[in-house]
Amino acid sequence: MKSVKQVFVILVTVLSLVLILSACNSENTNSTNENNESDNNSEEASNEDSSGPIVIGFSQIGAESGWRTAETESIKDTLENDPQFELKFSDAQQKQENQIKALRNFIAQQVDIIALAPVVESGWETVLTEAKDADIPVILLDRRIEVEDESLYTSFIGSDFILEGENAAKELINLVGEDVETNIVELQGTVGASAANDRMEGFANIINENDKYNIIKSQTGEFTRSKGKEVMEAFLKSDGENIDVVYAHNDDMALGAIQAIEEYGLNPGEDIKIVSVDGISDIFEAVIAGKANIIVECNPLLGPQLAQAAKDLKEEKEIERWIKTEETVFVGAEAAEEALPDRKY
Ligand code: AHR
Repeated sequence: MKSVKQVFVILVTVLSLVLILSACNSENTNSTNENNESDNNSEEASNEDSSGPIVIGFSQIGAESGWRTAETESIKDTLENDPQFELKFSDAQQKQENQIKALRNFIAQQVDIIALAPVVESGWETVLTEAKDADIPVILLDRRIEVEDESLYTSFIGSDFILEGENAAKELINLVGEDVETNIVELQGTVGASAANDRMEGFANIINENDKYNIIKSQTGEFTRSKGKEVMEAFLKSDGENIDVVYAHNDDMALGAIQAIEEYGLNPGEDIKIVSVDGISDIFEAVIAGKANIIVECNPLLGPQLAQAAKDLKEEKEIERWIKTEETVFVGAEAAEEALPDRKY
């Protein structure tokens, strides 16, 4: 028979073993919890990663006009001041080859979206196929491209340039009168750009319906003030007194032409009517001063529409194939004076 002392020792030993075992167990549970927590943390981190900023690579044409500067500012202001976005910006200095390089860089950096303001319409197939193969959606900004495979871009945000050209011609005929013999010189935008091709086409659509109206000269002024002035000087030299109207594909060229006309000794807005597209503040001032006549607005403030399209794409929503901008036409000093205080560019 065991003594009371022996029984006591056995009880203490059993109790100690139970205590040691339960301590080990609770340690194990704690470390499992810790592991779970760290698993949760890493899950949260990866969720954060997937909901991190939308990275947009934007290839801009350059800074040839007041309009383009306003477009760049709109996109930078919208995307750089919103933590939902990260913007990678590249200025192509008017060269398509620089835009292609920039796009390849964006693809290598695996951006979420490419925004492209294409300098010209053709020559994009190869690089856009590379973007498509990398699963990066491309949004065209302000100018269109010509591609056989329309799936190479997701959406176009911008204006109807053909309509702008048609509106320019209609307002001109309204202003001058449909029975008045009118000689027009045209300052085209960048050769090969949709903004130039379509504004030329739209304007010609309407002008060619009227025998009294003739486009006697048409040449590129490259969308810049200095080139617009230079080309207008040449037009004046060869056709001086025959010119009734300047149709400029943008305001900067119109402003250059106004300078050339003044230096030639004629009154822009009176002796030679000025019709122009864009709607920057400088042309409003020229119209108020009586030096220009018709402004066909083209809206460069595309930042908010780009941001919305990018968010929709991230949420896998369908976006419109053509996200149109809203625009109007201003004729004469009174309309320009009324509108100028509210102009944003
Ligand atoms: O593509 C839009 C055109 O490009 C603007 O009318 C012009 O000013 C610009 O540079």
